[in-house]
Amino acid sequence: MINDIQYKKPSISTRKDITEQIRKLKKEKNAILLAHYYQIPEIQDMADFVGDSLGLSQEALNTNADIIVFAGVHFMAETAKILNPDKKVILPDLNAGCSLADSCPPDLFKKFLKKQPGHVVMSYINCSAEIKALSDVICTSSNAVKIVESFPKDQKIIFAPDKNLGSYINSITGRNMVLWEGSCEVHDIIKTEAIIKLKEENPDAKMIAHPECKAVILALADFIGSTTALINYTVKDSAKKYIVATETGILHQMKKNSPEKEFLIVPSDEICACNDCPYMKMNTLPKLLNCMEQETPEIVLSPELIEKAKKPILRMLELSK
Ligand code: 13P
Ligand code: SF4
Repeated sequence: MINDIQYKKPSISTRKDITEQIRKLKKEKNAILLAHYYQIPEIQDMADFVGDSLGLSQEALNTNADIIVFAGVHFMAETAKILNPDKKVILPDLNAGCSLADSCPPDLFKKFLKKQPGHVVMSYINCSAEIKALSDVICTSSNAVKIVESFPKDQKIIFAPDKNLGSYINSITGRNMVLWEGSCEVHDIIKTEAIIKLKEENPDAKMIAHPECKAVILALADFIGSTTALINYTVKDSAKKYIVATETGILHQMKKNSPEKEFLIVPSDEICACNDCPYMKMNTLPKLLNCMEQETPEIVLSPELIEKAKKPILRMLELSK
């Protein structure tokens, strides 16, 4: 049973065997494997496309594959399904959720919106399909500023669910968006003390951070951006060492692109020396193989919900061109 083997790391020969089977199934089934940068290296290396949330949505919109295999979390696979109602969208583990998406339950959000009429509703892509359906436009961390600036200066805006990303956008754009009080458990826990210690020990290192981190962390950063933007920065920038304030999975592409550089992930607390997103890391090679063989678990959404959630996503994709 797949649940019995999911937490055991397969041996090297088994891993090779599994990756070969996955590659074979991709061809046979005309499936595309999309992976986020927070996935384990073995999955990233097998993917047809590895990217940030915006890149993954753009890729999902343009694919000719019959099946989309999403190695990421639930809201990402859901977005791919909303953009491709006629395709089968599967993900290795249906429990791969997101603490940030979970921090915004639709019932409470509806009440919140009712209390504040006359606002445009802009939601970060890290939210459920129900929240997307209640929104006017979606954004990711790579296009949020651009999307806010597409609205007139005096437009009242509600931003959900990430208060950290929201306050960062407010600080960049000079807007005063009303923020939903949600956050990501992986980024929100990162502490200034850990960064200051790393900075003291590595005075030659630059600090880079994802905008889901708190404002006090972002204030210490030399560069702030989405996962793709952070990777690109380390490729183009001249420094040799980086303190990285985001999830560990990102180090794989950073090291691949710049093997001569050093990357130091900011530990989330004294006991745990890693910032692994527990949801992203639910996807394993055996589960990926099982999901491709069985074509399950599948993302299923009602046509009505797809119809409502699609509009704000397409608006974002249009504004991102
Ligand atoms: P990116 O769009 O920057 O990849 O962010 C996704 C995410 O979940 C960050 O926690
Ligand atoms: Fe959600 Fe945070 Fe994990 Fe990203 S890192 S998927 S925001 S819990």
